Amino acid sequence: MAHALVFDSGVGGLSIVDEVRALMPTLRLSYVSDDAFRPYGDKTEAELGERLPGLLWTLVEMTGADIVILACNTASTTALSAIRAVVDVPVIGVVPAIKPAGAISRTKTIAVLGTPGTVKREYVDSLINDHAHDCRVILQGSVNLVALAEQKLRGEAVPKDYIRREIAPIFEGRDGADVDAVVLACTHFPLLRDELQGSVKQTVRWIDSGRAIAKRVKFVLEEIGVAQGCEFSDQNAFLIGPDDKSQRVQAFKARGFEHIIGLCPDD
Ligand code: DGL
Repeated sequence: MAHALVFDSGVGGLSIVDEVRALMPTLRLSYVSDDAFRPYGDKTEAELGERLPGLLWTLVEMTGADIVILACNTASTTALSAIRAVVDVPVIGVVPAIKPAGAISRTKTIAVLGTPGTVKREYVDSLINDHAHDCRVILQGSVNLVALAEQKLRGEAVPKDYIRREIAPIFEGRDGADVDAVVLACTHFPLLRDELQGSVKQTVRWIDSGRAIAKRVKFVLEEIGVAQGCEFSDQNAFLIGPDDKSQRVQAFKARGFEHIIGLCPDD
């Protein structure tokens, strides 16, 4: 039966899990949260390039997954080809939804809200050149929003002021009043969609890649020819590092991950 490994630095990949589950309710998922190395958004390309290919290879061997969903824009825009080079199952990388945002914008003014790492990657420049060359594009990086999303899924309050402060530069700059589409270029950010929406006065579409990724995964699984169908008891979430898992049990259980297991692949 088909088995997908969903990987992120934290709970961000759960925004992708939600879309995958909506499209393929019986697909078996294993989830890995690299808590020991979060946030990825302030790490260099060299640091991520050194960690990710070997780690993903180990995780695919460990889980026996048929497909990897790299549910992290920072990892995908930095190390997707290096990971594909060592992992011998298909790797679907989540990358910023710049194309649909450019197409949907009436004012041709969009923002890309990602981690500081993602918004300065060449990968993102190419996406803008290829798909949004007719748009003014504001790049905004935030690593604090990643921490706020983690906080929310631990059941803690997320102060509105903090959210507002993180995104204010988008709307207060020269072209800010014209922005009508914001790309949520970090998988943690759709988890804060309501809070983001509530912090902005103008009408904005918040666009992420979740649904497109779910469709892509379905297509690739059909191509490989592995059937879906599993018991929910098969679904594990692995948390790398010393983070206290008890605070996030609810967020994982609500998405069908029965077992939450601490992992130390470096040992
Ligand atoms: N969720 C990740 C992303 O999509 C990264 C968050 C982080 O660790 O900085 O970019």
